[in-house]
Amino acid sequence: MSDLTLLQQITDYSNRHDPYPLYARLREKPVHHDETGPYVIGGYHEVLALLHDPRISSERRNRTATTALPGQEDGDDGGTLPPNFLRLDPPEHDRLRAITNRPFGPPHSPHRVDGMRGELKTIVTDLIDALDGDEIDLVERFSYPFPVTVICRLLGVPREDESRFHGWADTLVATLDPQPGQDVAERDRTAQQARIELGLYLNGLIEERRKSPGDDMLSQLSTGDGPEGRMSGMEVLSTAALLLIAGHETTVNLITNGMLTLLRHPEVLERLRADARLAVPLVEELLRYEPPVQMVPSRTPITDIEVAGTTIPKGAPLWLMLASANRDPKRFADPDRFDPDRVDVQHLGLGSGIHSCFGAPLARLEAQLALAELARRLERPRLVEDPPPYRTNAVLRGPRQLRLAIDGVRR
Ligand code: HEM
Repeated sequence: MSDLTLLQQITDYSNRHDPYPLYARLREKPVHHDETGPYVIGGYHEVLALLHDPRISSERRNRTATTALPGQEDGDDGGTLPPNFLRLDPPEHDRLRAITNRPFGPPHSPHRVDGMRGELKTIVTDLIDALDGDEIDLVERFSYPFPVTVICRLLGVPREDESRFHGWADTLVATLDPQPGQDVAERDRTAQQARIELGLYLNGLIEERRKSPGDDMLSQLSTGDGPEGRMSGMEVLSTAALLLIAGHETTVNLITNGMLTLLRHPEVLERLRADARLAVPLVEELLRYEPPVQMVPSRTPITDIEVAGTTIPKGAPLWLMLASANRDPKRFADPDRFDPDRVDVQHLGLGSGIHSCFGAPLARLEAQLALAELARRLERPRLVEDPPPYRTNAVLRGPRQLRLAIDGVRR
């Protein structure tokens, strides 16, 4: 038996490659009150209900207790910007999300995401064209650069600035993935520096776009007017940083987890190679089976609440375990089986309720295009190591590296 609590085992790096047996233990009780403090919920129906419960807050100031466990820093802005809408409750959350949605999705901008399809395909094609040699690290060469380029195009970062933008994104993402033995003070200084540079850069870009707006999101966020009014400059800034952070590492992990899962299920890879349309249901099953956001560790009740007979006190840390909910046998038949033909796949991989993933249509399209093209073009891909080395982060879980042996790239 381990001396670690169940939650410590779940977040412990040694279990990163396969946390699912621990989630099964978690689901033995509807509420697990961990000895380290948090109340942890692993069952599908309970997690879903709490994601929709207006008594559950996402605001840090409502949490009375903090925990020493990792996982509280996802999406953190280091205090340099006002809280973004992931960290806000209604009515502020709803106002900022509605303004951000005007230039992004229906009903005002129904073509934004689909209109990016051609551009996404070109980015994917260019990245695959550039692969050479008989062994590649898919993360470095493909999964990592793809989403950050997409966010640049979405926000309207000029092409010539993209590599600087990638640099800041790298530094900020690294803070989500602390390495053992790393100089923490030094890392925090570098991250703070990157935040300041990124902020200054975006500020300049926002100023420019105010004067001569284009069709991009930054222009429209800075100049657009709707019933909810306009965002302040600081709000545009923290929203842009949110889109960058929330849309980057998550998508990297979905693509990498996807390729890993396909290589472990070669018959599905073969089907995808023959018919790219399989990518649509496949990505949904992936979001259930290997979700990049494993848990939401940053909620708290604003009043005492009762879940299945247990009282969770106001202000207590509440962790909602999405990846565990997705494998709940009370909701999904044979949940540990990867089956892209599943018909009823209402997973929680993109969350649910008012904070459900804002970028979901873009995330889905990116993953569908990426996996279909990788399946079609990589010649005889094989895993060099299984399991691959994982990033340290337990919340945004995914391989740090995915080494593939290939016979070449179909041109
Ligand atoms: C595969 C990729 C992605 C996954 C798995 C994912 C997952 C999630 C999840 C689980 C949440 C809910 C968090 C919570 O309840 O606290 C969320 C929220 C969010 N996501 Fe994503 N996401 C992905 C891609 C993206 C992309 C590409 C963007 C931006 C273009 C994005 C922007 C956001 C934003 C802004 C929120 C906050 C929504 C709110 O608070 O109302 N995500 N995402």
